[in-house]
Amino acid sequence: MNKTLTTLGLAAITSMAWADNHIFDINISKKGAPIQPTMYGIFFEDINYGADGGLYAEMIKNRSFEFGNPLMGWETTGKIEVRNDGPFERNPHYVRMNYSGHPVIHTALQNEGFFGVSFEKDKTYRFSVWARCPEGGKAMLEVQLVNEALDRNQHQVGRHKIVIEGSEWKKYECELKPWMTVEDGKLRMFLRTADSKKPKSDITVDVEHVSLFPTDTWKGRENGMRKDLAQALYDLHPGVFRFPGGCIVEGTNLEDRYQWKNTVGQVENRPTNLNRWQYEFDYRFYPDYHQSYGLGFYEYFLLAEDFGAAPLPVLNCGMTCQYENDIEGEAKYHVAVEDLDPYIQDAVDLVEFANGDVNTTWGKLRAEMGHPEPFGLKYLAIGNEQWDYQDNPAYTKRLARFMEVLRKKCPEIKIIGTTGPNSEGWDFDLLQPRMKQMGVDLYDEHFYRNEDWFLGKAKDKDGNPIKGCGATRYDNYDRKGPKIFAGEYACHGSGKYESGKEKKCNHFETSLYEAAFMTGMERNADIVHMATYAPLFAHIKGWQWRPDLIWFDNMRSMKSCSYYVQQLYGHYKGDNVLSLMMNKKPVAGTEGQNGLHATACYDNQRNAVIVKVVNTSNEAQEVTFNFQGKGKDLKQGFKEAEVIALQSADMDAENTLDKPDTIKPVTSAISADTRKVTVEAKSFKIFVFKK
Ligand code: AHR
Repeated sequence: MNKTLTTLGLAAITSMAWADNHIFDINISKKGAPIQPTMYGIFFEDINYGADGGLYAEMIKNRSFEFGNPLMGWETTGKIEVRNDGPFERNPHYVRMNYSGHPVIHTALQNEGFFGVSFEKDKTYRFSVWARCPEGGKAMLEVQLVNEALDRNQHQVGRHKIVIEGSEWKKYECELKPWMTVEDGKLRMFLRTADSKKPKSDITVDVEHVSLFPTDTWKGRENGMRKDLAQALYDLHPGVFRFPGGCIVEGTNLEDRYQWKNTVGQVENRPTNLNRWQYEFDYRFYPDYHQSYGLGFYEYFLLAEDFGAAPLPVLNCGMTCQYENDIEGEAKYHVAVEDLDPYIQDAVDLVEFANGDVNTTWGKLRAEMGHPEPFGLKYLAIGNEQWDYQDNPAYTKRLARFMEVLRKKCPEIKIIGTTGPNSEGWDFDLLQPRMKQMGVDLYDEHFYRNEDWFLGKAKDKDGNPIKGCGATRYDNYDRKGPKIFAGEYACHGSGKYESGKEKKCNHFETSLYEAAFMTGMERNADIVHMATYAPLFAHIKGWQWRPDLIWFDNMRSMKSCSYYVQQLYGHYKGDNVLSLMMNKKPVAGTEGQNGLHATACYDNQRNAVIVKVVNTSNEAQEVTFNFQGKGKDLKQGFKEAEVIALQSADMDAENTLDKPDTIKPVTSAISADTRKVTVEAKSFKIFVFKK
């Protein structure tokens, strides 16, 4: 009993000592480094069905019959033929629907969609198809939205008949309004006669680019984006928008690499490409995963404009994925330096597409697509996760060629290099100084690391501390080198996750450590100019990689805890860093700081001091804000204040599609005179003091 009392007594004394220590000296008069408008942004890659089957609202899979198996995603009955001399040069396949030879054997096509064709009662869907009657005359297509699970009723829950006439290819459209909501539905097309007097054997219809979109897309655009998903991106307040990846930039083979010129112009004529994420992990294998490029570079620039985010395209540097094609494959898999010209020209042309006058080749195309005004592109990243070798500057020799040309032809563009896939180690150590030598404007760092790394406690395999992990990572970076773009990062849990034996991902705890780490980015905003969590999206039935920021199925979407961390940083970004010290040291979860991480900034628009505090310890911590500065600032005080808290008593808690609101930020008003606060165990709090 006595012993317990003594222990409790000691704990009380210790916690008082902690309380005394947690005095944050915050200088509110001296504005420090500007926090760039680009600081917190989004990384988009078509991984986890993020584009086709995700953000891109098209509901028909393999709409152009261009997958390796041209009928993948389609079921057929009757007499169907796949042909390849269609109206769209770069997507030549189409389907010929013939009379079956027997009046009761129907010729029909049925599409399974992306994990089902899902539609909602009374909403409107725009169906379109390119079609013709190759022998002239007319025929009819009966288009149906179907629910095969309807055992006591007919299957069709929405229907429209379209008369196809003449031997010229034409686009036909109609609207469908289903009378019930169906998640696992299908789209069906029956070949019918349009003229009952003519023999059925005369009916033949060719169909190409079969498409179905909700009419209610983001900003109501045709060829548009899923509204809930685009809105979720908008709500992040992204300052920068990286696109289109990720590894799909590189491709497994050069032919599969992402080529932006294939993603612009008429949608029907954008050549389908396979998606490398279909086969990347054989334990999550998706043979139907392809890229339609319906969400291409034009749509991307439009979205960036909608979001008020600076576009940041990442381009192939003449190298395929180095993970998949190592140095032995150099000649075979990468482009020789002397043959890089077309790749470099692609980069120059992309700048013209984004910024060029409407009389230039690519500026004209942009204008024809609907946007004569330039998109104001300022950044280009060359290469995704590339690296050099000790005796072969495989990446930098190629980057040098790009830089030489881009500096001359596109001086307005800031060039972003990469330090490869690792945040430390021989490859990072080799590339980081080279980025400075080469004079890139920024370089891209990637770190998918575990809890210890994000908390600054990671050890290498020999048990030595890993340098440069945790919230102090950027404190000692070269202030004269290129700026930093933390282009891909996320905390990947290391532990086994009890019953399902899954690692933690998007659970509250790992997201909290991301918040802790990000205090270090903000404190070092003089050199960290951009940061984008990755990946962005994941379809619950089709993911290859997690954690991810936003999860969805065909009907619903859910914001993860990591999403809210990103959103809070984006929303309370501020304009200038303010000095925040505890015992003359930055608050970065270092020894004696009891798991506290903190940063402060000034927000011009709100006219407010913003203090972000993350408590990663298992104890509540008392913190005192000791605002310092010029007399008038202090005398003036604050008019109002609020606190926004993201917390959970359960470290394993997570948001799910069924329970999306389990963990959300909560805002409460506090007295403007508040100086002493409690930061609960394992919580993230943002204090806003408005002048
Ligand atoms: O974000 C998932 C993948 O991680 C990206 O495609 C790649 O750049 C990185 O290895």
